[in-house]
Amino acid sequence: MEGGDAPQDRSPRLAALRLRDLRTYEEADLELGPGLTVVSGPNGAGKTNLLEAAYVACTGRSFRAAGDRELVRRGRDAAHVAVEVERPGFGRATFTVGLVPGDRRRLRVDGAPVDGLLDHPSRPLLSVFLPDRLALVKGTPGLRRAHLDQVVLALRPAAAAVRRRYVDALRQRNALLGQLRAREVSPAAAATDLEPWDRALADAAVALTGARAEAVALLADPVAARAEELGLAGELSVEYRPRVAGDAEAFRAALAERRVGDLERGFTHAGPHRDELALRRDGRAIARFGSQGEQRLCLLALLLGEADALQAETGRRPVLLLDDVMSELDATRRERLVAVLRAGGQALVTVTEAAHVPHADDPGVGRVEVEPGHARALRVSTIAEVA
Ligand SMILES: Nc1ncnc2c1ncn2[C@@H]1O[C@H](COP(=O)(O)OP(=O)(O)OP(=O)(O)O)[C@@H](O)[C@H]1O
Ligand SMILES: [Mg+2]
Repeated sequence: MEGGDAPQDRSPRLAALRLRDLRTYEEADLELGPGLTVVSGPNGAGKTNLLEAAYVACTGRSFRAAGDRELVRRGRDAAHVAVEVERPGFGRATFTVGLVPGDRRRLRVDGAPVDGLLDHPSRPLLSVFLPDRLALVKGTPGLRRAHLDQVVLALRPAAAAVRRRYVDALRQRNALLGQLRAREVSPAAAATDLEPWDRALADAAVALTGARAEAVALLADPVAARAEELGLAGELSVEYRPRVAGDAEAFRAALAERRVGDLERGFTHAGPHRDELALRRDGRAIARFGSQGEQRLCLLALLLGEADALQAETGRRPVLLLDDVMSELDATRRERLVAVLRAGGQALVTVTEAAHVPHADDPGVGRVEVEPGHARALRVSTIAEVA
């Protein structure tokens, strides 16, 4: 789709990955190309571990919330992972992460210690598809809210302050509700105590709701377009449903309305911490009315649409780490997905058999073969010509 005309130039990408004693890997040194790379190998060989390693190297943490003890290869004392990042116009930077169980993670950029990698200007944004992440489509609203807030931050880094402000105000108001409840203060008297917190919370809620609404407005069209392109039948809509809509006054009114209940439970009921991001196909929740394959397509459309929005807004497209993504997709949808992935950006896709990826043998598609303990690049990808 539009991916072809949008500027790709500023997107950092993974140019090489080096692993030592990380999970299944004793040692692996891989060169990675800018386009699609297919990572294949049998069950348990270390394909997901390889994507995890790339994630650890770029962010300093795992996408599975794994501790260092789990990440270090059994029988070893420490693990190392390094990624060479190429950022057009800025040359290469090497991020390294050293993991020693019981010790702080050692993060470096070009050899110099750093406190974190997340804010480094050369850090590639990563968008991860794991089979577990289908919970984003099928699971509770809280997962979608957290995901939406991540997207908000990627689109508008300044929104971090907005979210913090809301979370702080909510925590303080909840703490006060707890105290008032313990002292059995009457709702009328409590209203006076709560007033300044209601005001702070309402102001922060308006800012957070606004940032979320703005992000969803940027996502809606690209996600719908990607769903259609991937062959999801019907029309996919992404819709932000704030629990309370309107200005600060509307929020304060909503807080006042639920004050008695809030005091009874010691908890704030109304607000953006109860919002929903609705994913619907032809007006019906895809979580309830979508097939397995359709839910997968929905998640892929969401991630791809987000990548499009990020590219359009920031000039930087995330690198896609797609684990076991071909399962449950029929031949036509696999073909479509591969066409989308080859049309732009960097993507690493794991499969048990390379034959599950149409055109995996094409000279433009990179190939990595994983076997227990090692991984080797059979071919380095190139950017496919965009028709
Ligand atoms: N710290 C560790 N040291 C050694 N091996 C580990 C460690 N952590 C995980 N493993 C092994 O890694 C293997 C799983 O690797 P991984 O999940 O990457 O496989 P996979 O290739 O993705 O397989 P599948 O096709 O089933 O998804 C398991 O056999 C597990 O025992
Ligand atoms: Mg796996």
